[in-house]
Formats: sequence, C-alpha cells, structure tokens
Amino acid sequence: MTTPKLPAAYHLIALDSVGSTNEEAKRLAVLGENAAPDGTLVWAKQQTAGRGRRGREWSSPPGNLYTSIVLRPDVPLARMPELSFVAALAVYDALESLGEPGHQVHLKWPNDVLLNDKKVAGLLLETESAGAGEDCHWVVLGMGLNVGWHPDDTPYPATSLRFEEWPVSVNQALEAYANSFLGWAGRWLDEGFEPIRENWLRRCKGQGEEIEVRLGNETLTGTFIDLDTSGALVLDCGGEVRHITAGDVFFSTPSGSIN
Ligand code: BTN
Repeated sequence: MTTPKLPAAYHLIALDSVGSTNEEAKRLAVLGENAAPDGTLVWAKQQTAGRGRRGREWSSPPGNLYTSIVLRPDVPLARMPELSFVAALAVYDALESLGEPGHQVHLKWPNDVLLNDKKVAGLLLETESAGAGEDCHWVVLGMGLNVGWHPDDTPYPATSLRFEEWPVSVNQALEAYANSFLGWAGRWLDEGFEPIRENWLRRCKGQGEEIEVRLGNETLTGTFIDLDTSGALVLDCGGEVRHITAGDVFFSTPSGSIN
C-alpha cells in the first residue's frame, strides 16, 4: 500500500482490513488522547462490517475509500452534528479539486454526496452513547466514498467514480478529502456553523423543490425550504413547516425519484 501524503495535522493509521473504521476509531478514542489524538485518521482498504446511517450495512470491498477521523474539538457536544455538514463540503470540494469537468456533484441532506444524481459518498458521525453526556469530548467522523465499486441494490441509487468514468485512485481521493476537510473544519472552528450552512445550501440538490422525506414510520412530502441553524431540514408541508432532524430524502427528478 503506498502511503498517502496527508497534512501534519493528521495521525494516519492505515489498515489492510478492519471490521469498521468507525468502530476502530471509537475503540482508540475511548482510550484517550495518547491513543487517539485529535486528527487520528483510520483508513482501511476494506471493511468486513462497514456500517451506514440508521443501522444499515455499508458494503466495503477493496477499491473504495473508507476512513474515520477522531476529532476532539473544543465545542459543545450538541454542536457536533454540524461536523457532518463540514465533511460533506470537504468531500464536495475534494471531488472538485480532482477536477473532471462535466460531472454534476451535489450534496443531499443530511450528509450524502451525489455524483450525476446518484449517491457516491456517505458520512457517519458517532460518539460514545452510553452516559457520554457533556464529558465526551470526541467524535468519530466516518466517510465512505465509492471510488471503484458501488452497490446496485440500495434504496437510493448509487454510483462510483469509476462507473462515471472519472479516473481517481483511492490515495488521491484520501489526500484530497483530508486537505479539504482541514480547510472546512478550520473555518467551522473559527466562524461557527453559519458559513458551513450557507455553503452547504449552495451545493445542495432540491432547495425550493418538492421532495419526499422518509422518516422511520412516516413519509412526508413538501417543499424543501431551508437548512436551519442546527442542520435540520426545513420542509413546508402544505403550510405546516416541519424541522426534520433524521430521514431519507428522495427527489422527484430522475435517479432518486419519488415512486
Ligand atoms: C451512510 O451514508 O449511510 C453513511 C455511510 C458511512 C460509511 C463509512 S465507511 C467508513 C466508516 N466506517 C463505517 O463502518 N462506516 C463509515
């Protein structure tokens, strides 16, 4: 494995195979700052038990990017979910920096990245749940990017860089993401969530359009108006405005279409 060149702010842990980079990063994070200082980046060539949002599996054969960063920002725990928007911007800008004109990249609430209207990357932010409270000053930010392979049985259609004929190596993708994340995380620490919110909205898909949001036990249809100051999706359901904190978005345009 060629070692990628990451900025000095990261402590790279490169693995050939692991169950889940998020699990490994969490295992190290609970051991404390010596085992996992801020910026510890766990990267694996493959995962045997990769996990997605809402308890889903994240198929993780070799050829894609699987990474989890341990972060210890001096920020209240309640604000940590903002970091997944920071990371979504980082993936977007990383792809832009790998510059292949003609591709459409968009962000999809809450923290997916779309390539040509199909999902190419997802983010999973986790901390220790049991009794962590305000004493827990770390989070693990997992990111999976389909570089060479994508599943074909997901509720929201998926794709990969290779399928879209965008030749990028896993190392190049990791280096671009790590660089871009450093920039956006610095901006978040210095300026707060507002510039993140504004930039996320500029890059997102579907604002002002009718969308469907599938919640655990309910499906809502309405106009995607805004992202609120906590990162919730603001949906106008025929005059009743809802602030949604968890769900899956589907669009009425091709690929992720409402059906
Ligand atoms: C999602 O869109 O559902 C989130 C997917 C997150 C996948 C990444 S791959 C690296 C890290 N390790 C995991 O087990 N999951 C995240």
